[in-house]
Amino acid sequence: TLSASYCRAIRKRSQRCYSYVQLHAFYKVAVLGAAGGIGQPLTLLIKMSPLVSALNLYDIVNVKGVAADLSHCNTPSRVSGFTGASELADCLKGADVVVMTAGVPRKPGMTRDDLFNTNASIVKTLAEAIADNCPDALIHIITNPLNSTVPIAAEILKQKGVYDPKKLFGVTTLDVVRANTFVSQEKNLKLIDVDVPVIGGHAGITILPLLSKAKPSVTFSDEQVQELTVRIQNAGTEVVEVKAGAGSATLSMAYAAARFVESSLRALDGDSDVYECAYVESNITDLPFFASRIKLGRKGVEAVISSELHGLTDYENKALEALKPELKASIEKGVAFVQNQL
Ligand code: NAD
Ligand code: LMR
Repeated sequence: TLSASYCRAIRKRSQRCYSYVQLHAFYKVAVLGAAGGIGQPLTLLIKMSPLVSALNLYDIVNVKGVAADLSHCNTPSRVSGFTGASELADCLKGADVVVMTAGVPRKPGMTRDDLFNTNASIVKTLAEAIADNCPDALIHIITNPLNSTVPIAAEILKQKGVYDPKKLFGVTTLDVVRANTFVSQEKNLKLIDVDVPVIGGHAGITILPLLSKAKPSVTFSDEQVQELTVRIQNAGTEVVEVKAGAGSATLSMAYAAARFVESSLRALDGDSDVYECAYVESNITDLPFFASRIKLGRKGVEAVISSELHGLTDYENKALEALKPELKASIEKGVAFVQNQL
């Protein structure tokens, strides 16, 4: 027989669950490329979210086993696996957030742009399916080269007549995560307090950490600024080289992407104080897509924050001007890829 105190504990716990259900909406998240190096740890982290009721995993291989494994965790979301093109539509229907992490990663000696030929077509196919099955979802793109894949997805959504610039994001959270980590190490600061905006894009010199805008305010020598900036810009390559052919960042990326998913879900859920950096359609520079701090709301991007571009140091201003031609070319390459196939 159950003891009275055990019964009381169970009753309390179900009351807590009940009031949580009353207070919060629950969301469906779909992850495309879910069996991959990023996909597996990312889906594990999303499975831990109290805001997710359904977690749909899609991949072209191995995904049913990953879904079966994950489904045994006793957290609220129901996990389902979908494999092959014939199951893609069912994976996407009703999704509130879709995370796209399908595609090949770099090997040593490659640039992210070297992935274009393989990954552009993957992004195109998946964006078409999103447009057909869940056009209202927030779309988080991780697949590289991010500077081009986000414009590719935008063009596809435009062709399908469902493009909402407020709902398409290139995930650059990992650049912020790295900048926060490296600055806190350099300055011996408590990690929780550190927030460094990173703007521009997500490749080489297009990644521009604004160290002068770091919170808490910190001072660096010119040499430190140069060293830290280059370290943040090359952090992806650093991992690719150490992994020596076994892929690129997966665990730190999963951590960063899970943070961006959680922020998006909190915003959908009505939290009015959610800010992240992301690569979005933007008019704060003369480039059509640009990473900067954004405010997230119930309908996606509520505001693109331009204030952090004011009062930059000379170093940052020069770096900003220097990144523009490369970022512009990558955006145009993505747009041309879709338009030339018309
Ligand atoms: P991975 O090879 O381990 O996994 C990719 C997964 O995608 C595989 O499971 C594969 O089967 C799947 N896939 C391939 N084609 C597919 C398709 N048409 N539909 C569905 N799934 C498909 O690679 P990874 O390490 O997980 O990296 C994935 C991508 O993320 C790469 O392009 C990488 O460059 C990029 N990335 C981006 C960032 C960022 O900051 N935005 C960080 C790290 C990696
Ligand atoms: C990263 O920054 O780690 C990713 O873009 C993967 C890569 O190719 O470096």
